[in-house]
Amino acid sequence: MEQALKGIKILDMTHVQSGPTCTQLLAWFGADVIKVERPGGGDATRGQLRDLPDVDSLYFTMLNHNKRSITLNTKSEAGKKIFSKLVAHCDALVENFAPGALDRMGFSWAQIQRINPRIVYASIKGFGPGPYEDCKVYENVAQCTGGSASTTGVIDGFPMVTGAQIGDSGTGLHLALGIVTALYQRTVSGKGQRVECAMQDGVLNLCRVKLRDQQRLKNGPLKEYPQFPNGEFGNAVPRAGNASGGGQPGWIVRCKDWENDPDSYIYVIAQEGAFPGLANAIGHDDWLNDPEWNTPEARLPKLDEMFSEIERWTLTKTKFEVMDILNRLNVPCGPILSMEELANEKSLRETGTVVEVDHPERGKYLTVGNPIKLSDSYVDVSRSPLLGEHTDEILSELGLDIEEIRQAKEHGAV
Ligand SMILES: CC(C)(COP(=O)(O)OP(=O)(O)OC[C@H]1O[C@@H](n2cnc3c(N)ncnc32)[C@H](O)[C@@H]1OP(=O)(O)O)[C@@H](O)C(=O)NCCC(=O)NCCS
Repeated sequence: MEQALKGIKILDMTHVQSGPTCTQLLAWFGADVIKVERPGGGDATRGQLRDLPDVDSLYFTMLNHNKRSITLNTKSEAGKKIFSKLVAHCDALVENFAPGALDRMGFSWAQIQRINPRIVYASIKGFGPGPYEDCKVYENVAQCTGGSASTTGVIDGFPMVTGAQIGDSGTGLHLALGIVTALYQRTVSGKGQRVECAMQDGVLNLCRVKLRDQQRLKNGPLKEYPQFPNGEFGNAVPRAGNASGGGQPGWIVRCKDWENDPDSYIYVIAQEGAFPGLANAIGHDDWLNDPEWNTPEARLPKLDEMFSEIERWTLTKTKFEVMDILNRLNVPCGPILSMEELANEKSLRETGTVVEVDHPERGKYLTVGNPIKLSDSYVDVSRSPLLGEHTDEILSELGLDIEEIRQAKEHGAV
């Protein structure tokens, strides 16, 4: 079976998390991803959050599978010549440096196009054009500036960041789509183009429903929010705790042994069509003929009470028992799965979503494989490269002979 992006060469100037997640996806689909790293330390994440001395961290290994690594000082004259060859050789250049870094190296978009008019030049920055365009940005800054933090958290509490890396990995995913779209357009236009994704924009795109609610707020209270009917709404979309955010009420309720297990909870959605089954299951068939309970409108002002009654029942069962019973009744629900449970989940191993990888220095470790499944393009998750592991091989593919490679090393370019 062929791989979807076989033959596509990616010049990967990415570091930390956002850019590497993008190029890792492209590598999983079969692109040849050449990761350019500074001689010496390389991508800073190789050394960050290390759990084993002198071994590439899981932070790095889990973001850089299926890539090759070349060390190259792109600020030295000899390094710039090699970099120009890489630009000519590749289909896309991907970077997520601080704003202007590539221009400061002498590689503006105009210069890159002169070298290779077919190249797609893709970048992640914290912000698009505007007052903050020069700022450096990390994950939580993007979550805060993209609308996620202001709309996440308990009702009267602080704004809250989420564990899902929507700023970094989310924007990497957006950028990957931009790159394959630009490569597709190139098949018609014959030309490359610039692809830019700002992390603020990526997070805001994922918070689309909250901008929806901001506009609904002008026309009355947000009735599905826990603030309704007793609390006050201000001018902006409030934090909504664990309310579902869609048209169907939902909440997290405790399950058996919650006192000892911090993840013994389940999310239950009291969807209108499945409500009779839910009411029966929790021993409240009296609700079905009671006008105080038997319509969504009647239940809306007393969702607290409804979820307390559901919880009285879930407290007698494990989250998996609740999942089994309610799913048979078509009640959407989801147990709160811990990372430990996910790591050991058999079905995720079988689909390749959780994969065990072998690394020459660290040994075996678990990673999240490609979550996007194509029926005609296989993914074989292979380990991340050691720093500069493929330097000689890549230089010779660029046409450098043994003597030229020796000189590049002597000049400290690689
Ligand atoms: C993530 C971020 C905050 C890190 O900042 P940082 O550690 O200071 O790193 P920078 O991107 O500024 O790069 C540092 C320098 O290394 C240089 N460098 C990187 N690779 C190099 C190489 N192979 N050879 C020579 N120099 C290199 C860069 O050119 C830059 O030099 P300059 O400051 O003189 O222009 C910043 O890169 C950023 O804001 N990126 C965009 C948003 C983003 O992706 N954030 C999420 C990260 S998960």
